[in-house]
Amino acid sequence: MNRVVEKAQLSENVFRMTIDAPQIAAKRKAGQFVVIMTEEKGERIPLTIVDSDIDAGTITIIFQVVGKTTMCLAAMKKGEDLFAVLGPLGTPTEMENFGTTVVVGGGVGIGVAYPIIKALKEAGNKVIAIIGARSKDILILEDEIQEICDRLIVSTDDGSYGVHGFVTNVLQDLIESGEVINRVFAIGPVPMMKFLCEVTRPYKIKTIVSLNPIMVDATGMCGACRVAVGGKTKFACVDGPEFDGHGVDFDLLMNRLRMYNNEEAEARKGCRCHE
Ligand SMILES: Cc1cc2nc3c(=O)[nH]c(=O)nc-3n(C[C@H](O)[C@H](O)[C@H](O)COP(=O)(O)OP(=O)(O)OC[C@H]3O[C@@H](n4cnc5c(N)ncnc54)[C@H](O)[C@@H]3O)c2cc1C
Ligand code: FES
Repeated sequence: MNRVVEKAQLSENVFRMTIDAPQIAAKRKAGQFVVIMTEEKGERIPLTIVDSDIDAGTITIIFQVVGKTTMCLAAMKKGEDLFAVLGPLGTPTEMENFGTTVVVGGGVGIGVAYPIIKALKEAGNKVIAIIGARSKDILILEDEIQEICDRLIVSTDDGSYGVHGFVTNVLQDLIESGEVINRVFAIGPVPMMKFLCEVTRPYKIKTIVSLNPIMVDATGMCGACRVAVGGKTKFACVDGPEFDGHGVDFDLLMNRLRMYNNEEAEARKGCRCHE
């Protein structure tokens, strides 16, 4: 059992939760995730570890409510216990001083980008962060990211805040302005990561993406999280979740993400915890 120590709502559907998990807090590195079960018979869902506090023995997650389990998680209160938190899982982000790096976060992916920005700064990189959301009211972590990066550019699809347009346009403009970029990290909706890779491909800028396939056991045994990278099958839970985006078959990933839509809709109907 792991106790919920803090919970805050960051936007209409996005929550930040701090959870008591001392062993995970002591070991985790940027890019890793946990698998959470809210109840014994519940689903296992993967969520990125956004931050940790070794002294307090806690980890922080940021999640968007999209279905049954995230609804149940959002309904939990400070002081309540999660049935299980397993981790840290996945391969940590490859971390060194690359030079100038750009980290692009879209939507709830901004939360996943945060620990990567922090670790890149600690490794001595110049970090330019580009964060984007559909509109200002659902933009998260602007102040927190401003504090830890060298330069922050915000964009909104509807122009309600920052640059009017997509994060892909912002990255294209940055490259065309002559900024020499040694590595890009892209985290967000699958179409966003796909198109960002097309922006960087002609310039041969290595682009790391954080993939979010369906995961079941998260130990490399079940095969549910398989993705195609450079023509080879990889398991995102153990080989990833980060991969070289220029080799990823994004269309296959999108098809696989849609595979359980009917079952997920049924599960949401049966869920009572958000009533
Ligand atoms: C390594 C990794 C890290 C992630 N980190 C975050 C994070 O930090 N914050 C965040 O909001 N989301 C994150 N996700 C996505 C998150 O796991 C799903 O949103 C969550 O599982 C949805 O569960 P649900 O029951 O609420 O929704 P459901 O109704 O079950 O599903 C809604 C959609 O979520 C996805 N999904 C469902 N079950 C899984 C599963 N077991 N594994 C992966 N995707 C699933 C599918 O695309 C599905 O269509 C991450 C996914 C992966 C693989
Ligand atoms: S989730 Fe089962 S192999 Fe990755």
